Amino acid sequence: MFWQMFLQHGKRLLLVVLVCVSLPLLAAEFWELPKPPPPDEFGNLLINRTSGKSAVKPAVFSHWIHRRKFSCRICHSELEFGMKVNTTEITEAANQSGQFCGSSGCHDGKAAFGHKIDTCEKCHNGNLSAGKERFAELAKLPTAGFGNRIDWGKALNKGLSVPARHLTIKPVNEMAFKDILVLESEWTGTPPAVFPHRPHTWLLDCSNCHPDIFNIKKKTTQHFSMTANLQGEFCGVCHTTVAFPMADCKRCHPAMTN
Ligand code: HEC
Ligand code: HEC
Ligand code: HEC
Ligand code: HEC
Ligand code: HEC
Repeated sequence: MFWQMFLQHGKRLLLVVLVCVSLPLLAAEFWELPKPPPPDEFGNLLINRTSGKSAVKPAVFSHWIHRRKFSCRICHSELEFGMKVNTTEITEAANQSGQFCGSSGCHDGKAAFGHKIDTCEKCHNGNLSAGKERFAELAKLPTAGFGNRIDWGKALNKGLSVPARHLTIKPVNEMAFKDILVLESEWTGTPPAVFPHRPHTWLLDCSNCHPDIFNIKKKTTQHFSMTANLQGEFCGVCHTTVAFPMADCKRCHPAMTN
């Protein structure tokens, strides 16, 4: 029966069968998925645009330590940190005058440790796993198979980890954009990817995605591909380094079986 169908429909059927049954297995061969860091280092960065040249060690920044309390939009919209490491012109003078890390409500010496001679090394230690011992604080959050091994989406929905949405600049649109977009695949047999606006608009500003990453007017959809995603474009701007990574196929393609 299978072979009869196979002879009739040939390669196309084989592709459908392969794609449906074993995509996650094949994925590793199709696309080189990056080797995952330990869960307590996922989303950790060493910021070293100027540190090395200025005789201080690179500054460590951990997303999981910060995202519990602050939404992405606070840092990536209000405080204007770029979404690519070493792209922001952070200087110590700016920090100490209340911008970037030193913004009021942040490392201002009140809300969190400030910029004093005895605290320099808390940031400038060049250690990607600094703060590791605090990872146990996340133990109560729902788990996931990839990234930090924390299901941040569920944690948000269940009210277990609800970061502040703003420091001083309120989101323009308090009303969440609830559409779930279905992104159909051009590949036969690939279950479509879904894009729910809700978790994204809660955490991010519309301007974090539109128009730079996704141009609504020109409809970027037709250019989405896993190769582009894995190279850090489109969904991959976040879903490689900070939000659950590309290896977690099922969260974007719910009909897949990984
Ligand atoms: C809350 C974290 C934090 C603390 C505390 C901190 N820094 Fe920084 N600092 C940074 C970040 C982030 C950068 C940007 C690093 C880069 O791009 O290489 C930076 C940049 C620098 C630079 C290089 C750029 C420039 O402005 O010359 C120097 C030097 C520096 N810090 C010195 C210090 C000293 C000295 C202290 C303690 C008095 C200190 N920092 C405390 C986060 C911190
Ligand atoms: C407390 C501030 C803060 C919060 C909250 C925060 N970020 Fe970041 N993020 C940063 C900083 C600082 C950088 C480094 C910027 C630089 O070096 O120019 C960064 C870098 C990034 C990068 C680039 C990573 C890389 O490897 O190049 C991505 C993607 C990103 N953030 C996404 C997010 C997302 C998504 C969220 C919410 C879940 C988030 N961030 C929450 C401060 C923050
Ligand atoms: C962060 C979301 C996300 C994750 C995670 C994800 N995908 Fe995709 N994937 C997409 C989007 C968006 C597209 C483009 C629209 C579509 O084809 O549905 C896509 C397209 C595809 C396609 C069609 C071919 C192509 O390159 O356009 C295949 C096959 C695919 N994904 C397989 C996988 C596999 C296997 C995994 C896990 C290793 C995975 N995806 C993880 C979002 C994701
Ligand atoms: C995490 C990224 C992200 C954020 C944040 C985001 N969007 Fe989108 N938006 C998308 C993607 C992806 C699409 C689909 C783009 C495409 O098909 O080319 C989209 C599509 C749209 C569309 C077109 C809908 C359609 O049916 O084609 C509108 C309108 C839109 N977004 C409005 C908003 C508004 C308003 C906000 C803020 C409240 C927002 N978006 C925040 C990623 C985002
Ligand atoms: C600007 C950053 C950013 C971009 C771009 C982005 N996402 Fe997300 N996404 C997030 C964050 C943050 C979450 C919350 C969950 C987490 O951090 O793991 C999330 C959650 C999701 C969820 C909810 C999953 C769940 O189980 O709760 C889906 C599905 C998803 N993203 C798909 C996509 C797809 C598909 C694209 C591209 C079309 C995309 N995302 C682009 C940041 C982003």
